[in-house]
Amino acid sequence: MPGEMRSRGAAVGGRAAGDGPAAGAEVRSVPVKLGDRSYDVLVGPGAVSGLHGLLPASARRAVVVTQESVPVEVETGLPTTVVRIPESEAQKSLATVESCCREFARVGLTRSDVVVSVGGGLVTDLAGLAAALWHRGTAVVHVATTLLAQVDAAIGGKAGANLPEGKNLVGAFWQPSGVVCDTDTLRTLPEAEWRSGRGEMAKYAFIGVEGLAGLPLTEQVVRCVARKAEVVSADEREAGARMVLNYGHTLAHALEAAGIAGGDRPMRHGEAVAVGLVFAARLAFRLGRIDDERVAEHEAVVSSYGLSSRLPGGEAPAGLLEYMYRDKKARGRLTFVLDGPSGVEAVTGVEDPDVLAVLEEMASKLGQEVA
Ligand code: GLY
Repeated sequence: MPGEMRSRGAAVGGRAAGDGPAAGAEVRSVPVKLGDRSYDVLVGPGAVSGLHGLLPASARRAVVVTQESVPVEVETGLPTTVVRIPESEAQKSLATVESCCREFARVGLTRSDVVVSVGGGLVTDLAGLAAALWHRGTAVVHVATTLLAQVDAAIGGKAGANLPEGKNLVGAFWQPSGVVCDTDTLRTLPEAEWRSGRGEMAKYAFIGVEGLAGLPLTEQVVRCVARKAEVVSADEREAGARMVLNYGHTLAHALEAAGIAGGDRPMRHGEAVAVGLVFAARLAFRLGRIDDERVAEHEAVVSSYGLSSRLPGGEAPAGLLEYMYRDKKARGRLTFVLDGPSGVEAVTGVEDPDVLAVLEEMASKLGQEVA
């Protein structure tokens, strides 16, 4: 049957706050409005049954790009080839994009056909980029199977790969023809992936999505997707407004680039975002943009998602500052996304001593205790 999905996994992973049983929940459709490139995001248990309806009518063949570890199989209703890409962030590279494109060539994928990504953000980013490049642009549909991909990575058309010099330095804006966020796929998600997704969810509390806690999981995902869709519709290519989606990400990218471990295991993206949100709040406080109650609110939200706001040890503040300058969004001087009287917005020209002072404070015992 077109669009049918099977789960290869067994265990049910840790769940988000307010995640109730899926029974009775229905699939919701959230539009991303971009003129003739508009598309729908299907959210809910069993949403993948709508996959076929998202495929372009012109498609006569599909290539599914996924990973061995992704316990989800989709049926497209078309002759389909499955390409499994490597698991590690180290192989989120142009070499992997090239190997996907060579598979497209081998099976004779045409520009009228479709690429279907099935996985988390690494898969949606790389498959999206391969689709953007193949024959100068071939349709892609994302089936997001992690919480992080469902609330962020799969929506909005950012596709990319890393270079040795930095994360996501090459990429494209290539909007999918549709996105599936089947919450049933989260049943097999490992706890570490839940934590990572919750970090991205925590971000939404400060960019216009309040009161997620206690809502059923589908509703939480719908509200995050709807907010992201609204931001992307207003500013597809991140000329300004879309930057709010990077809230907490400046330090997060530095922590990830530095490969800093949280506890005895590597930090995941969303866990780094959680620390980055509190860092951004403290920086905004230092710059007189928000009061200490608002900082405490950031700490409370992060903690309500079961995440730590502690700056992990392992890299001196000066080293983290270096990594921030290497971030592609630094543009010569540091730009932060900070809270303030008009809400979260991009703030340019933040001085290094302020950044260092906040990092020092978070690294100090006092900072650890307050955090
Ligand atoms: N992940 C941030 C964005 O899509 O703009």
